[in-house]
Amino acid sequence: MDQAALEAIERITTRTRQVYDTIAVDPLTPLLGAEISGLDLSKKPTPEQEKEVKDAFLTHHVLVFRDQNLTPDDHKRFAGLFGALHPVALPIEGSDPYILEISANKESRWVAGDGWHVDGSAEAEPSLGSMLYITRVPEAGSGGDTLFANMHLAYDMLSPSMKTFLEGLTALHNGALPWLRRGQTPPARYDVPSNEHPLVVRHPETGRKLLYVNNPYMSQITQLSRAESTAVLDLLYSHVARTPLLHCRVRWQPNTLVFWDNRCVQHHAVWDYYPHGRYGRRVAIDGTRPQA
Ligand code: SIN
Repeated sequence: MDQAALEAIERITTRTRQVYDTIAVDPLTPLLGAEISGLDLSKKPTPEQEKEVKDAFLTHHVLVFRDQNLTPDDHKRFAGLFGALHPVALPIEGSDPYILEISANKESRWVAGDGWHVDGSAEAEPSLGSMLYITRVPEAGSGGDTLFANMHLAYDMLSPSMKTFLEGLTALHNGALPWLRRGQTPPARYDVPSNEHPLVVRHPETGRKLLYVNNPYMSQITQLSRAESTAVLDLLYSHVARTPLLHCRVRWQPNTLVFWDNRCVQHHAVWDYYPHGRYGRRVAIDGTRPQA
């Protein structure tokens, strides 16, 4: 491992261990994710619990809550502690505009999120985070895990020269691309977002830098030729996908809620359970414009 990577990991693993009084926090890896216990999310947390969950979120970026029995209103109330709810991009008529159904079965020909991505980066103000509550896991008894990648660490591990090169570059994020790449056009009722964001941004709460790339939505680095842009983006995408120490893996059980920080993690829903089914509901929280 090279020096930049060792130093980045050391910074995380030698930080002062936070003490929690009202919840238990068990890291999934030393670098990303934690299981939180001692909380019933169907009840309003105390101010101390709320503060400790928020601290754990900024430290671990992906929080896993097991054995929760949540109505859609409980789910939305918990999400609402972190900000205003972020509407679903393509709401279904007659359904809750803040709840996205995540569902796969034997009729599915593709599933949402089956590839490394960040939710909604084509928007001017992408969501702060997403909360996915899985109620039904594949009947096969396994599969359907979600992988997460730490984008602070993805940035920290780059060489000093690559960091300097990326500084100041921006890229176009186009909401139509996931359709176009499947040979389809977005639904006519979709007001397709398209926005330019920096490749290196700072987390709005911690100020830490991170690599802000998003394969399904990014068309081109604005300041480079198309060929140069493709080469650089492919290198960065493959850095995220092929560096296992950036990753943690959540194995779902029924009634698990996972809350991840869209500002600094990517995720990948693994579709390894066809023809079995998987079902859940996702609520997102409003975010702010990514800033260098
Ligand atoms: C998504 O939000 O991309 C879906 C994640 C999942 O189904 O695990």
